[in-house]
Amino acid sequence: MTVPVLCIDGPSGSGKGTITQLVAQKLGWTILDSGALYRLTALSAERQGIACNDALSLASLAATLDIEFVASAYGEPVKVLLESEDVTQAIRLETTGNNASKVAVLPEVRAALLQRQRDFRQAPGLVADGRDMGTVVFPDAPFKVFLTASAQARAERRFQQLKAQGEDVRIAHLLKEIEERDARDMGRKAAPLKAADDAVTIDTTAHSIEKVLENVLAIVSR
Ligand code: DC
Repeated sequence: MTVPVLCIDGPSGSGKGTITQLVAQKLGWTILDSGALYRLTALSAERQGIACNDALSLASLAATLDIEFVASAYGEPVKVLLESEDVTQAIRLETTGNNASKVAVLPEVRAALLQRQRDFRQAPGLVADGRDMGTVVFPDAPFKVFLTASAQARAERRFQQLKAQGEDVRIAHLLKEIEERDARDMGRKAAPLKAADDAVTIDTTAHSIEKVLENVLAIVSR
């Protein structure tokens, strides 16, 4: 029997991460945070002095990254380890996110991460969060959702998150970064950010998390 996958794709700040965690908890399924793999590649490259456009070095780095995802207490983010070091916070920095978006443009890096992502497909099921889960990594997945939200709403959500972490940021700056990242993620040739033909698109701009969760769970129980 094939293991079911629920793909949750969409741009940064659309609520994918939150919805993925909540749905996975409800269903008791494993999580794949594919963005974390690109972030880990970018962070590791930065630490080793590898440039964001050095495709071959980045691909070999991506293929051999020593990483571990450690489940934590209910409601807490999953801990991410790189060579046994806790990098949960380091990979969430804006600079790492932007560098992740740059290394993610390279087909060599995407190819190196493909099988690693597919290996997360384990019983009883997988919730896969990313940009190309439904189009490239798990095209045969029975459940596919594409979450969107206006760039302004996403910038405001990010602003609230960073403010809560004590970071001093401006919404206008976050909005510009989000628009640049969207353009890069949607405009790249390799596995661009887009909804799979068989995905259900949900606009989260004006919806509560509870409402979106309800809609996504309804898709899985169809
Ligand atoms: O979801 P995230 O913000 O953690 O992702 C960081 C970057 O990684 C994002 O800007 C684009 C890239 N990414 C990707 O290209 N494909 C994925 N499946 C997930 C993330």
